[in-house]
Amino acid sequence: MSAVRLDTSSHLAKNLAASVLALVGRAADVDGVEAISEAFRLALTSPHASVTHVVAYAGEPGSRAVAGYAVRDAPGSAELVVDPETRRQGVGRALLGELLDGGAQGVWAHGDLPAAQGLAADTGLVSTRELHVMSRPLSGTDAVDPPLPEGFSVRAFDPGRDEQAWLEVNGLAFASHPEQGSITLEDLRERMAQDWFDPAGFLLVEDTTATSDGGGHPLAAFHWTKREPESRTGEVYVVGVHPAYQGRGLAGPLTGLGTAHLAREGCTEVELYVDGDNTRALATYRRAGFEDTAIHVVYGRPSAP
Ligand SMILES: CC(C)(COP(=O)(O)OP(=O)(O)OC[C@H]1O[C@@H](n2cnc3c(N)ncnc32)[C@H](O)[C@@H]1OP(=O)(O)O)[C@@H](O)C(=O)NCCC(=O)NCCS
Repeated sequence: MSAVRLDTSSHLAKNLAASVLALVGRAADVDGVEAISEAFRLALTSPHASVTHVVAYAGEPGSRAVAGYAVRDAPGSAELVVDPETRRQGVGRALLGELLDGGAQGVWAHGDLPAAQGLAADTGLVSTRELHVMSRPLSGTDAVDPPLPEGFSVRAFDPGRDEQAWLEVNGLAFASHPEQGSITLEDLRERMAQDWFDPAGFLLVEDTTATSDGGGHPLAAFHWTKREPESRTGEVYVVGVHPAYQGRGLAGPLTGLGTAHLAREGCTEVELYVDGDNTRALATYRRAGFEDTAIHVVYGRPSAP
C-alpha cells in the first residue's frame, strides 16, 4: 500500500478542478451513480463557494495524479470519491478521516454502494439519514384529477399574491424538517425565477369553508410539481399539508392532483425524494404506486446514548 497525501484548501486551481471532475466522471461510469452532487460539483469551479476541498494523491512520492477527492461545507455536509483505479489502497479511509477531523457531520453515500457501507462500518459510522428516490410511470389514465374531500378546492399558485400564505404553511408543515421548513421569500423567489418554474404546476388546495377573519386557514395544502423544460420526467417537488388539516385524507388526492398535472403535460414518469423517517409520506407515495429506485444514505458518528 502506498502512502496517501492529502491537500486541503478552500479553492482549487482550474486544472486541478478539471482533473477532479474527470475523476468524478470515471467513478460515475463504474459506480452507476454520481458521488458528488450538483451543488458540490458547481463549487469546484465557483470562486464564491465556501467549501473545503480535500484532494488525495497516492503512488510515487511527488505524483500529481489525483487519486481521490472529498468536499465539505460549513454546516458539515460532505461527499467523497476515490478513483476506481486506486480503490482499496486506503485513499477513502484517509479522505474520510480528514473530513471528520475537519468537522464533517454527515457524509453522503449516493446509491449506498457496498464499498461505502464497508468504509462507513470500518470507520465506525452509522446511517443517520436515508433519502429515498421513488418513481412510477405515468399514462393517460393518470391525467384525470382525483376528487378532493368535501369543502376543498384546488387552484394554481398566483405569483405576487400567494407567496406569504405559502411560506407560512410550508414553515408549519415542515417544522421538523429545517432544510425545507426554513425557506424564505428570497429562496422562493429564486426558485420562481428558474426556467422550470410553472405556476400552473404549483397547486394550492384551499378550505372553501374558511373565513378570512381567522376562522380557518384558507390555504390547507399544496403540491408543487417540477418539470425541466422538454423533460418527460416530472417531479413531486414539495408536498405539504397545514398541521390543522393533517389526518383528513388530503395527502392521497393531493399527490394525485400533481401527478395528473404532470401526465397532462406529457410526462411519462414521475419521481420524488423523501426522507426515510417520513413514514407517513412514504406510505402515501407507496399507496400511489411509487417504488424505490435508489436510496442515498448519510453516514455520521453514532449519537451518544
Ligand atoms: C467508498 C469509497 C470512497 C472507498 O474508497 P477506497 O479508497 O477504496 O477505500 P479504502 O481503501 O480506504 O478502504 C477502507 C476500508 O473500507 C472498507 N471498504 C472499502 N471498499 C470496500 C468494498 N468494496 N467492499 C467492502 N468494504 C470496503 C474496507 O473495510 C476497507 O478496509 P480494507 O481495505 O483494509 O479491507 C470508494 O469505493 C468510492 O469512491 N465509491 C463511490 C463514492 C462513494 O460511495 N462515496 C461515499 C463514501 S461514504
